[in-house]
Amino acid sequence: MRLKPVSVVSFLVLLLFHFLARGDGQFIYNGFAGAQLDLDGMAVVEPDGKLALTNITSQLKGSAFHPTPLRFHEPATNGTVARSFSATFVFAIVTDLVTVGGNGLAFFLAPTKNLSMASPSQFLGLFNPENNGNASNHVFAVELDTILNPEFRDINSNHVGVDVNGLASVVAEPAGYYDDGTGDFKNLTLIGGDAMQVWVDYDGRSKVLNVTLAPVEAPRPKKPLISITIDLSPVLNGTAYVGLSSSTGPFRTRHYVLGWSFALDGAAPLLDYSNLPKPARIGDSKRRSKARDVILPVATPILALVVVAGVSLLVWRRLRYAELREEWEVEFGPHRFAYKDLYRATGGFDGEQLLGVGGFGRVYKGVLRVSKKEVAVKILMSHDGAKQGMKQFVAEVVSLGRLRHRNIVQLLGYCRRKGELLLVYEYMPNGSLDNWLYDRNAPPLSWAQRLSAIRGVASGLLYLHEDWEKVVVHRDIKASNVLLDGDMNARLGDFGLAKLYDRGTDPQTTSVVGTMGYLAPELACTRRVTPATDVFAFGSFVLEVACGRRPIEHGTVDDNRLVLADWVLERWHNGDVTDTADPRLCGTYDVEEAAAVLRLGLVCSHPTPAARPSIRQVVQYLDGDMPMPEPAPTYRSFTARASMHNAEGNESYVASYPLSSATSVGASSVLSGR
Ligand SMILES: *[C@@H]1O[C@H](CO)[C@@H](O)[C@H](O)[C@H]1NC(C)=O
Ligand SMILES: *[C@@H]1O[C@H](CO)[C@@H](O)[C@H](O)[C@H]1NC(C)=O
Ligand SMILES: *[C@@H]1O[C@H](CO)[C@@H](O)[C@H](O)[C@H]1NC(C)=O
Ligand SMILES: *[C@@H]1O[C@H](CO)[C@@H](O)[C@H](O)[C@H]1NC(C)=O
Ligand SMILES: *[C@@H]1O[C@H](CO)[C@@H](O)[C@H](O)[C@H]1NC(C)=O
Ligand SMILES: *[C@@H]1O[C@H](CO)[C@@H](O)[C@H](O)[C@H]1NC(C)=O
Ligand SMILES: *[C@@H]1O[C@H](CO)[C@@H](O)[C@H](O)[C@H]1NC(C)=O
Repeated sequence: MRLKPVSVVSFLVLLLFHFLARGDGQFIYNGFAGAQLDLDGMAVVEPDGKLALTNITSQLKGSAFHPTPLRFHEPATNGTVARSFSATFVFAIVTDLVTVGGNGLAFFLAPTKNLSMASPSQFLGLFNPENNGNASNHVFAVELDTILNPEFRDINSNHVGVDVNGLASVVAEPAGYYDDGTGDFKNLTLIGGDAMQVWVDYDGRSKVLNVTLAPVEAPRPKKPLISITIDLSPVLNGTAYVGLSSSTGPFRTRHYVLGWSFALDGAAPLLDYSNLPKPARIGDSKRRSKARDVILPVATPILALVVVAGVSLLVWRRLRYAELREEWEVEFGPHRFAYKDLYRATGGFDGEQLLGVGGFGRVYKGVLRVSKKEVAVKILMSHDGAKQGMKQFVAEVVSLGRLRHRNIVQLLGYCRRKGELLLVYEYMPNGSLDNWLYDRNAPPLSWAQRLSAIRGVASGLLYLHEDWEKVVVHRDIKASNVLLDGDMNARLGDFGLAKLYDRGTDPQTTSVVGTMGYLAPELACTRRVTPATDVFAFGSFVLEVACGRRPIEHGTVDDNRLVLADWVLERWHNGDVTDTADPRLCGTYDVEEAAAVLRLGLVCSHPTPAARPSIRQVVQYLDGDMPMPEPAPTYRSFTARASMHNAEGNESYVASYPLSSATSVGASSVLSGR
């Protein structure tokens, strides 16, 4: 009997596979069918051999380990050094929505296979809020991160980072590669659904770590994306397991790995691309094969093509511009935008038009065709089947569209599609205040600009709390929600979380939403949002702007969390409060004025709601109509630390992942959580 060449090849591949999989310190998986991996969480091997680390379920994690631990250190004259290693894998991240996904995946080395204590979402199933950054983790990882998490100082929502013991990367670069021919940098979109390959190479002797990314089957770029000198011997000081991990946040995302190889003291075995399973694009394969079935048998292919093309164009247009419209929306007519107009205004939600990404979704810049008006289009996820909530939400949006104030970003209208809600705002050319505060490339804001931003936000908030027809509690005041218009005038934006209630009625209780560090401590027990909870967040905002630091900062290596309010309060008690002002100001500010503003921040973020001033008083203080308040001498350390502990105790989402992209949760709970 003659064996078919194909089966000979696959037999050899299988043999090779077994041989290599057992070999010491080396393994290769060209597809994972039958692979002896230890899977954890959501991870499964699909029938065609794809390793699916996550499915579309939100807020879960999945990981896969090579089953045997490997020894990563070897004796040297003066102690031990980390051994060289090399890894490569092919992955694909497939999202439901073209615009947003998450949270990413990581290749890692860890001393244990038990990651049961690790959190999903931005922790990628590797760390949790307690151990993130702790040197006792002994975890090395290369992350492919698709969500921007400011608390880890992420550079963008599409980057590759090297992580040691925590998620604040030692070094990170936007996803892409250097073209061998021209040397140009080429961007890659991690969540695009396309398969890509990563190489991680470490030389224990020279202590050089290289990370390279490229589209699959393209030749390996000569110049790595990341090349750093880093001594991994303190991290990899014993045996470690080699693994892949991933997690989902609020957005439906599948993280696939198609092939993986690894070697100690040598190059990772080359993957055989022809044997790798193909990544599935959600909803794509079915449509394609159906079209093929229709066209092939037709006798006059040209005519058929014309018909099919015509029909597909119609279908394509329908699908592309499909919206959800219901009867109750008629009354909101003028505030409703056509999806087609928004699609065209933003060049089809082109990556170049992307202004930013938050936990809630993406924001694109656009120019409306007819009016030539510049707008920002924010895409939020909406819940399926939350019709009731949706109607109420849209009613609120429309109502908020009637807010007019020079310190408020004007909401122009909305549009709905299946699974997506689009909000259209005035475009703010100078972006968000937190970019100016934290981006080292931006020129530092002067004291006058900071004070003007604080005044502006106070004045916008006064309008929301007291001067409009309804009381509007913003619920998510923070530097990243304050935008700067063409004249650097600060405007309060993002009313995704705003909660309306009619004047005089009792504020409804609600699940806790907002962002850690700005959440008033009483929210943890009462769950009532009131103007006083906004004043608390405003206090954190004032300190943030004056000090140029986030309300809660996490250390990189060891867990030295800095609670800004505590720190400023301590310095105030010591009589040197102005030393807390942002060092980027280089002392160019009025010391008295800065001290007064810092005290105002402290008074507003007082743990007891009754001790906080009203926003009207705040405006009077800032306008000099009333002398600035002094914190009570009895007011000693507390604040965010207490609130964090409280909030962690309850069951809300935000509380379980206090550092998570809380706003996203908030936005959707406004849609549904009433
Ligand atoms: C995703 O994985 C989780 C955990 O294994 C499982 O409970 C859930 O049913 C899965 N969801 C889907 C849509 O497959
Ligand atoms: C060990 O020796 C090597 C070279 O001999 C040197 O580079 C390294 O810094 C030494 N390590 C320690 C911990 O002394
Ligand atoms: C994993 O670690 C957790 C916490 O440290 C522990 O409770 C659990 O029993 C461990 N699981 C296994 C299988 O060892
Ligand atoms: C790559 O992406 C970055 C950030 O999105 C952008 O600034 C840059 O212009 C892009 N480069 C190319 C060549 O497209
Ligand atoms: C890392 O990249 C540099 C530059 O291409 C190369 O010289 C070096 O050999 C690489 N090191 C490893 C460990 O791959
Ligand atoms: C690795 O370092 C930790 C300290 O972080 C120590 O407890 C542990 O014993 C070390 N392991 C080895 C094998 O040296
Ligand atoms: C780091 O983790 C170790 C062991 O879990 C713990 O004892 C230590 O307190 C942690 N360090 C910090 C700074 O939290």
